[in-house]
Amino acid sequence: MDTIVRTVDYIKGKVVIIDQTLLPAEEKYVEIGDTAELAAAIRILKVRGAPALGVAAAHGILLELENEILAGQDDPHGYIFDHGDTAAAFDASGLDGAVITAKLLETADMLAATRPTAVNLFWAIERMRKAIKRSGNDISLLAANVSTEAFAIHDGELETDRRIGENGAALLSDGMVVLTHCNAGGLATAGYGTALAVIKTAHEQGNAISVFADETRPLLQGARLTAWEMTRAGIDVTVLCDNAAASLFAAGRIDAVVTGADRIVLNGDSANKIGTLGLAVLCEKYGVPMYIAAPWSTFDLTIENGSGIPIEERDPGEVKSFAGIKTAPDEAKAYNPAFDVTPAELLTAIITETCVIERPDVEKIRTAAREAGVLEPE
Ligand code: MRU
Repeated sequence: MDTIVRTVDYIKGKVVIIDQTLLPAEEKYVEIGDTAELAAAIRILKVRGAPALGVAAAHGILLELENEILAGQDDPHGYIFDHGDTAAAFDASGLDGAVITAKLLETADMLAATRPTAVNLFWAIERMRKAIKRSGNDISLLAANVSTEAFAIHDGELETDRRIGENGAALLSDGMVVLTHCNAGGLATAGYGTALAVIKTAHEQGNAISVFADETRPLLQGARLTAWEMTRAGIDVTVLCDNAAASLFAAGRIDAVVTGADRIVLNGDSANKIGTLGLAVLCEKYGVPMYIAAPWSTFDLTIENGSGIPIEERDPGEVKSFAGIKTAPDEAKAYNPAFDVTPAELLTAIITETCVIERPDVEKIRTAAREAGVLEPE
């Protein structure tokens, strides 16, 4: 069974995404030809998950370049960029490099304003900004640098995810029952996944792993997306309401929790989908290991502790209705943070593509980051 999902890609001048709001009922791929439309798709979670947001934004900046170049042609037709192909030749006469550079930087700002918590979005956009700026307003250089960087960000995900899978699978063994929250699979990374890469790799290595997938209210990424990915991979999966998790711990039925993250800061405090903190507290209470699997692009070492992480607050309507049906009175307010922060002391380990950081703290994270080349040597 195929365990790689074509989550987001750049195909013949368009950003192509699988519409995650429709899964699992419908597997529909949508072609996006305009960056405002891409920003809207990100806001409503058609494309979502920290690393996938970075890939989508990188492709969005390339899309803007494509559109700027084609708008300058007398007879706009065809496409210039396509994943896996060299850029098609184009006529640069009549194009103003400074104007296009400004437009690309504006697009970068617009995409950065879509969702505040997942730092991979800003990490990828910063890489794209640097690629734009080192092109010095030269159109040919812009075409080369912006496309190379966008595809490099995307291609890097798969390799990174594979390594996270290998590092994390070593922590699981045959017969284990693993609980996960939200979706940290290929749908969330445009690769192989983070938390789900750990599970899929352990499964590929011949271990029988059973998965409990929290449904993850209000948007059901666990029930809709994780369960879809697990069944495609042939892995035993059971969906539960979020409020049923504690009873599984109390019955001794969970051997480990593995989730992804949206932003991990210097001391190891980690933001992930709302509800992750509750699982970490349950792990502490019942002596179950709590693992977070995430690439270095999810680390924000400029923030000292979790209190500095911006938490996205989403539309109250997501809580006050279900599948289009009103479930709370209009007059009631709703509390709808998209993420919570798990303090580092509740984490057994953070699994990255370079190493496993056990009982993370500032010193261990600094050392691991230096070894990974993410921080300058002392
Ligand atoms: O709001 P979402 O669906 O984008 O939230 C996603 C998560 O919380 C994931 O667990 C996280 O981004 C890690 S994805 C590898």
